[in-house]
Amino acid sequence: MKAIILAAGQGTRLRPVTLTMPKPLVPVANKSLIAYAIDILKDSGLNHIGIVVNDLDSPIPHQLGDGHALGVKLEYIVQAEQLGLAHAVSLCRDFVGDEPFCMFLGDNVFQDKMESLLTGFEQSNAEVAVALGEVPDPSRFGIADLSEGPDHIVRVVEKPKENPPSNLAIAGVYLFRNSIFEAISNITPSWRNELEITDAIQWLISQGKTVSPYILQGWWIDAGKPDAIIQANQYVLGELPYTPAPENGNQVLGSSEVSPRVLLGEGSQIINSMVRGPVIIGKNVIIKDSYIGPYTSIGDNVRIEASEIEASIIMKDCAIRNIPGRIDSSLLADNSQVTSADHVPDAHRFILAENSYVQL
Ligand code: G1P
Repeated sequence: MKAIILAAGQGTRLRPVTLTMPKPLVPVANKSLIAYAIDILKDSGLNHIGIVVNDLDSPIPHQLGDGHALGVKLEYIVQAEQLGLAHAVSLCRDFVGDEPFCMFLGDNVFQDKMESLLTGFEQSNAEVAVALGEVPDPSRFGIADLSEGPDHIVRVVEKPKENPPSNLAIAGVYLFRNSIFEAISNITPSWRNELEITDAIQWLISQGKTVSPYILQGWWIDAGKPDAIIQANQYVLGELPYTPAPENGNQVLGSSEVSPRVLLGEGSQIINSMVRGPVIIGKNVIIKDSYIGPYTSIGDNVRIEASEIEASIIMKDCAIRNIPGRIDSSLLADNSQVTSADHVPDAHRFILAENSYVQL
């Protein structure tokens, strides 16, 4: 069975990070969001994956290439205009052919590996199967109605404004047969001017087809906003298995104290600093006279001096120096700098992109 990953969205809720980096490449625990999706598919034997991007020149094909390094075969399909998830699926018709296929949204992170959903669908009698997760705010999601029993969905509704039929959201993993293409050709754009995949599924239900639910185990994050990315980072780092504290030596120097569950990349050094796991640190990072608290991910070539950071994502090539107080729950994209003034006037100074956020 082939799979498609939808990765063409603009990521507007994650600006300014997504002005230069497509959302599926945003790192959580130093691994891109889309790599989590690829791993889940690969672990269930779905090795041939089409990724829908908005431009073949996007950083996604540049970074992932033909998938060889990830142990999968990747192809790319262009969705130049963002006309909805169902529109993206319709563009994949040639790639998937007439066989059943899996569709995965490229910005969702799951604890559940979903093997039974991914490997059991082809033999099942369902026309569609979808993963469902409980949410506190059904108005932001596609919602499923299971009022006639736990085995089949009687209705799906996209972002119900009132009276949601349940709090079970369609969680970004769908299994389809080729009937989905006929369904898509029978729907019209929604109020947000998108062809909604939820409407195509509802069309199949109205034709008497079986749509099966799969209730997710564990946590699931739709990592569309900064807070959700930071939360996903905490969940993923929270699952780091025990590893002993790195010993003082080439990489841990001076009066440093480093706890277990701290992954330290090649060429990185912790100097006179305290690091409390779970923490992941990339390659060639220098941490000096600083405190790095739990649930922090630090990318390659970062330099942190005389500062305190906790529960944050610091992407590659950033520098943080001499910051009073603690940096917490923050997201710094590649090559950002946060420093204190080293000369008078001792003032705050900002060079910020559109939609930047600063809390002092
Ligand atoms: C999309 C789907 C929605 C689904 C959600 C999961 O919403 O339309 O049905 O519940 O993904 O992340 P969007 O992210 O486009 O608002």
